Amino acid sequence: MNPPEVPFYEIGPGAEIAPNVQLGYRYPGCRVPTRIGGRARIHSGTVIYADTTIGERFTCGHNVTIRAECEIGDRVVILHGCTLEGRMKIGKGVKIMPHVYIPSRTVIGSMVFIGPGTTVLNARFPMREAKVGGPTIGNNVVIGGGVTIGPGVVIGDNVFIGAGATVLKDIPANSLAFGTPAKHQPLPEKFGSRNDPRQVFCGLDLWDNRPGDETWKEEDFFGRAEWLSEQQP
Ligand SMILES: CC(C)(COP(=O)(O)OP(=O)(O)OC[C@H]1O[C@@H](n2cnc3c(N)ncnc32)[C@H](O)[C@@H]1OP(=O)(O)O)[C@@H](O)C(=O)NCCC(=O)NCCS
Repeated sequence: MNPPEVPFYEIGPGAEIAPNVQLGYRYPGCRVPTRIGGRARIHSGTVIYADTTIGERFTCGHNVTIRAECEIGDRVVILHGCTLEGRMKIGKGVKIMPHVYIPSRTVIGSMVFIGPGTTVLNARFPMREAKVGGPTIGNNVVIGGGVTIGPGVVIGDNVFIGAGATVLKDIPANSLAFGTPAKHQPLPEKFGSRNDPRQVFCGLDLWDNRPGDETWKEEDFFGRAEWLSEQQP
């Protein structure tokens, strides 16, 4: 089913693919090759299924599983040990820390940070009811480490979720939420109003420190222009 000598993927120029990475993993009924934009960097042990599309400058740690029918935008970073079940959408400039689980039918906006060990859920009564529906997460959201996000929950733009929260109900835009079950309040001013796009690739070996990364255009990142203007004294 998966003869490595017959590639089932297309990737843009400048990619760095480590040994022992499987791109375009075939499964019964798969249709089109995995498509990945230019300048991807994918570390060993990662498997990306057929029928998934990923944008430019994808950075991926070790042992990441990305199953079929994921649509992932430009400049996304996914660190080691994450699992993305199929059928989901992820915007641009999203940073997913290690050991995060994201089920199918999840929608994630742009410039979102997801802390380590976060678990996203898509079934309210697993094995009792066939219905599944993942959460919808807005733009410029920060989700702390070890958070659990329940099925079908809608999280608005510029929400900040504290570490360890269990989010079972919708969180309106511009809120701070934490606790189990999570309670929300208006986002205090010190949290600012959006994420810093420069932090998507920062980290020890993370990141896109190769020459030529000064090419960001305003449209590459949701809200980058506004973020920059807020930094002016
Ligand atoms: C939610 C958060 C931003 C609050 O920070 P803060 O505004 O500086 O809040 P404080 O530390 O002053 O705490 C205020 C109160 O909220 C409580 N609190 C803060 N964070 C909490 C959390 N995650 N869960 C439950 N209670 C929390 C504190 O215990 C404190 O309670 P008290 O007033 O009864 O003593 C922060 O605690 C947090 O969770 N950040 C995310 C860190 C993270 O996950 N990073 C991942 C990257 S590796």
